[in-house]
Amino acid sequence: MTKAYRFIDALYRKPVDRTPIWIMRQAGRYLPEYRELRKQHPDFLSMCKNPDVACEITLMPIARYPLDAAIIFSDILTVPEAMGLDLHFESGVGPVFSNPIRDPKAVDNLIIPDANGELGYVMDAIRTTRSALDENVPLIGFSGSPWTLAAYMLEGKGSKTFSVAKKFLYQEPEAMHKLLDKLAQSIGAYLNAQIEAGAQAVMIFDTWGGMLTPATYQAFSLNYMQQVLATLPSNQKTPTILFTKQGGHWLEAQAATGTNALGVDWTIDIGQARARVGHKVALQGNLDPCVLYAPPAKIEEAVSQLLQSFGHHEGHVMNLGHGIYPDVDPEHVSCLIEAVARLSPQYHGA
Ligand code: CP3
Repeated sequence: MTKAYRFIDALYRKPVDRTPIWIMRQAGRYLPEYRELRKQHPDFLSMCKNPDVACEITLMPIARYPLDAAIIFSDILTVPEAMGLDLHFESGVGPVFSNPIRDPKAVDNLIIPDANGELGYVMDAIRTTRSALDENVPLIGFSGSPWTLAAYMLEGKGSKTFSVAKKFLYQEPEAMHKLLDKLAQSIGAYLNAQIEAGAQAVMIFDTWGGMLTPATYQAFSLNYMQQVLATLPSNQKTPTILFTKQGGHWLEAQAATGTNALGVDWTIDIGQARARVGHKVALQGNLDPCVLYAPPAKIEEAVSQLLQSFGHHEGHVMNLGHGIYPDVDPEHVSCLIEAVARLSPQYHGA
């Protein structure tokens, strides 16, 4: 069985020889080769906009580890920038928009970008990477969710509470819906273009959906992710993964969107999650990223417990519950991948 089938088949809950694994933010600062290249490119966004550089970074973790998927090196904030906001990355702060949305009129001024125009550099990066990547390693495309992108566009930068974004939701619900609708249209076109350019699975990152109440999550995040999913091909070739961080309360509703798989963070037991939704969707996750700080024997123990909790079923992709931290030892990532290769086959096959 080729590796390509292992990751894609697991997302479709088909039989595989062992549990596939990839790691959120696998192409990032914990890799010395990334930090080295980063020194030559002080501007993070310009790396995303250079297809050769984006390709080179995407391939870094694949060259180092036997991973079952690559994820295109880019960022979720490419879409708000293409819609008309001015984005830069400040060291120590993260992403900053100098002209955040502050009133309903600003929503009207946003454009719905041409995915092959303003965002064509992402498609170029996908095409370049797809032709350079081992044919047995599938390439994942991605986008932020409408709500998560709206949250950054309203706040202007990251936040602990996202209270500026939530204030807009409660004070200007109509404008909020208009913003989310524009985002859903932009993201739908963006993900479709990524698939046409060569992405073999797509993931929607709803990093801040967990900040919402059950009712506002449904109305302002999940409904718009469902709108995006409805625009994607239902050809049983390009599976979708929907990931709401801290969204474990709402797995049943997420599974009803029609997505093929759900990403889960580490706050929920994967076996319990499977019991709730396993007949409908595959699950991706959910090791605590901090487990990678533990000694190798403990990492192996955590993998063993997670595999045992998920049990002898199809439809699991091993991953962390959120992105890998920059100060993780790359050797510990090897331990994780080796532990999955060694311990997971017993949970597959007759
Ligand atoms: O997973 C991968 O390897 C693919 C690349 C990827 C990046 N960002 C690269 C990146 C992906 C999938 C993302 C998604 C992303 N970006 C999300 C959703 C996933 C999540 O983490 O919840 C979010 C919220 C962002 C927005 C963003 N981009 C923030 C908040 C930051 C700064 C945070 C930090 O850790 O400094 C970024 C920058 C960023 N995106 C880096 C990388 C490798 C670090 C850039 C650098 O300084 O080198």
